[in-house]
This record gives sequence, structure tokens and C-alpha cells, in this order.
Amino acid sequence: MEKVYIETYGCQMNFADSDVIAAILTKGGYAICESIEEADFILINTCAIRDNAEQRVRHRVRELRALQSRHHRLRVGVLGCMAERLQSRLMAEEDNVSFVCGPDAYRKLPELMGGVRANGKNGSDGFAAVELSETETYDDIEPVRLSGNGISAYISIMRGCQNYCAYCVVPYTRGRERSRDPETVVREARNLFEQGYREVTLLGQNVNSYCWKNDDSQDFADLMARVASIDPRLRVRFATSHPKDLSDKLLEVMASHGNICRCIHLPVQSGSNRMLKLMNRKYTVEWYLDRVEAIRRYMPDCSITTDVIAGFSTETEEDHQATLELFRKVRYDYAYMFMYSLREGTYAFRHLADDIPEEVKKRRLNEIIALQGEIAMENNRQEVGREYEVLVEGESHRSKQQFFGRNSQNKVLVFDKKDAVLGTYRRVKVNDCTQATLLGELTQ
Ligand code: SAH
Ligand code: SF4
Ligand code: F3S
Repeated sequence: MEKVYIETYGCQMNFADSDVIAAILTKGGYAICESIEEADFILINTCAIRDNAEQRVRHRVRELRALQSRHHRLRVGVLGCMAERLQSRLMAEEDNVSFVCGPDAYRKLPELMGGVRANGKNGSDGFAAVELSETETYDDIEPVRLSGNGISAYISIMRGCQNYCAYCVVPYTRGRERSRDPETVVREARNLFEQGYREVTLLGQNVNSYCWKNDDSQDFADLMARVASIDPRLRVRFATSHPKDLSDKLLEVMASHGNICRCIHLPVQSGSNRMLKLMNRKYTVEWYLDRVEAIRRYMPDCSITTDVIAGFSTETEEDHQATLELFRKVRYDYAYMFMYSLREGTYAFRHLADDIPEEVKKRRLNEIIALQGEIAMENNRQEVGREYEVLVEGESHRSKQQFFGRNSQNKVLVFDKKDAVLGTYRRVKVNDCTQATLLGELTQ
């Protein structure tokens, strides 16, 4: 049996996809291996969101040449968003790549890899499977949890995105939005709980536009309520929600289920209305702040996190100051902060200049990072003295004597192991903090 090593880059949905890929390949007669040295095929599941994500993958692909020169049967395939974006071009540019396969074509992988093996040569057009689909959700496939800890798992509930934010490549790499049958989502979550998992994260590029068969009675809030009702000991999270679709109905469902985690990732992208309009985000700063206020009204203890882009087309100092101002108002618990990266094929690529110099983008990004660092530290200081229920998830990276776990707000707590058991809930009191971690002790 030939062995396949899968390496994953990018967002949580890509990690969930790799688990589906592992299931397809296992069924198709391949074995998944954990060491790159024993592999006959290396599959790289890639991200195309920013240029540096792609450069990292290209660097990795080139690095694999050395391994291929020692192991002549070894073939490299590129999957995911970069495969979809570049298609056969990628095989022409990186001649040690034998095949590419886009996110909706993973069922074809066994056939594709069989063809590559039979043919033997690299870089042929015949070995690209990149059709996007309007219906594929892989909902009949039970994922093989590759990087799982047996405690926490991702469940993809939808695929694709059609919001067409001006800067974003995802609608082109992942295709039309489509939702998965809710029965299969609930079944998967229940099976995971029965196997001992204690946390599931429902995934989509915009989960709150989840909709099964255009039926309003099966929207995202309804699905959350169903998954949360499986068992109060199963924590339920979700990512990512688009501010334009964050409904009061969802907040009500969250507030009425203690096991739906008090954490909302609400990517804002910019604090300037002019930028939001140019980005085609379809909301204003006022709307966004109203949603933040609603979250805090329904769940005063809810943490809020975000994504932001510095240096989008025509961004002025005033626009940038508006972003800093918004950060001061919302006081995020965590933020993913990026410099704008022009992506081929997007609306911005066709119509808007990438006109903010690199050093200005960098300086603005650094100002946002510095401000957010202070805010996160101040937020964490206020946690000292509080006590939380924590799901014990693993050994701390710093010390073998300590475990780490997260609270409902998704904050990481580190504490001495004592008699704690992985995969169970314990109460932990916060004694100290850093910018990223709360340090505490078990209270019983
Ligand atoms: N669907 C999610 C975001 C997915 S991409 C949402 O709409 O919220 C994750 C983040 O990458 C985005 O929120 C954005 O902040 C960032 N991003 C996307 N395209 C980018 C680009 N061209 N340059 C820089 N950052 C980008
Ligand atoms: Fe990209 Fe916008 Fe879709 Fe998010 S909502 S994936 S940023 S197009
Ligand atoms: Fe990247 Fe594709 Fe996810 S571009 S962020 S891997 S959807």
C-alpha cells in the first residue's frame, strides 16, 4: 500500500478538509503516514489568502526537491486554495509538483494519484482537478481526525463564500456558498461526543449565512441550538461570523445555552466607513458597534476577537486613526492583524490601486499591533482573581508539570497538573497573566 503524508497550511477549514482528504484516500487504498521520510506521496494543502502564505508554500515545495532526489518514487501534489487559484500554472512553475487538486475535487484524488503513478512524469496538464462545485459538501464522509487531540474537533458546516469582499481571493478559490445537511452535522457532533470529544467548532467562511435548502427554519441559530442540545458537557464554538449577518436570534440562542462558548470572532477589517465601503463589507462602523453592544447586552462575559487589514487601497492616516479608535472602543480580546496583500483576480486587483507604500502599511500594522497588545494585557489583568471552568486540553509547552486548557471565552489558562485529567472540566483560578495567557491554579 502506498503511503501519503499530508501537510496543511491556512485556515481551520483547510485543516478540516485535510481530515476529509485522509478519509477519501484511506478508502481509496492509500495509507496515511506520520513521517515524511516514509511517504510515497506528499500532499500540501495550501492557502492563497495573502502573498506571503503562497511564498511559504513555494519555499516548502522547493525544499522537497532534496527529498525527491533521494526517493525517486516520491511525488508531490498541491491541494487547496493555491491549487485552485493557479491550476496548471503551478505545475509549470514548480516542476517537481506532479498534480494539483482544488477544494471541491478531493473525491478525484485516488484516481488522480493513480494516473500520476501510471504515467510517471511530472507536471502534466492531465493531472489537474480544479472544477468548483455548487453542491459538494463531503457530508457523507466521516473525517479521519489527523491532528486531533481526541478532545476538540472541527466540523465544516458549509463551503465557499460569495460575499466578494474587494480584497479577498476566497470566493474564487472556494466557489459558491453551500450549506451541509443539518442531520449530518448533528450526527457528526453526536458521534464525536460519544467518542469522548468535549468541544466542536462549526466552521464556515460566514457561518451565520448557513441555510439548509433555503428554509429559514433551518438557519445557523437553529443548527447551533440543535448541536448544543446534544449534551451540556459538549462545548460548541463557531467561526467565522460576518458582522452584517450577526442576528439577535443567534445571540439569544447563545445566551440560552451555557455550553455555547462565550466568544465571537467578528472580523471588522477597518474602522473607517470609507474603507468598509471600498472593501464591499456591507456594514458601517455604526452597525458594527451596534452588534458589539448587542453581544454585550445578551452576554456580558462574551469575549470578542477580530481580523483587521492595514493599508488597503487609498487608506489615509485618518482612516488608519479610525481603526485605532475602533480598537480602543471595542477592546478586543484578540486580533489577527494583517498588511493588505493584493490578490490577482479580485475586485481590488481589477479596479483599485495597491497604492500604500510597504513601509507605511508596516508602520500602520505595527501601531495596531502595539495598541492591541496593550489592550489584551489590560483585559487579562482584569481576569486576575476570577475563576473559570476550563476544559483540560494538553500539556503546557513550558512545563511538563503543567496543563493548559481554555475557558468558555477561548482564553488559554495554564496551571499545575495535580490530579487533573485530560478531556475533563476543572475549575481554575487566575493568579497572574501575560498578554496571551492566564496563569492559574486548580481550585478543587
Ligand atoms: N470569511 C472571513 C475571513 C476569511 S480570511 C471573514 O470574512 O471574516 C481571514 C482574514 O484574512 C480576513 O478576515 C482578512 O482580515 C484577511 N485577508 C483576507 N484577504 C486579505 C488580503 N488580500 N490581504 C490581507 N489580508 C487579507
Ligand atoms: Fe473573503 Fe469576505 Fe468571504 Fe470573508 S466574507 S471569505 S473576507 S470574501
Ligand atoms: Fe486560505 Fe483558502 Fe482558508 S485561501 S484562509 S485556506 S479558505
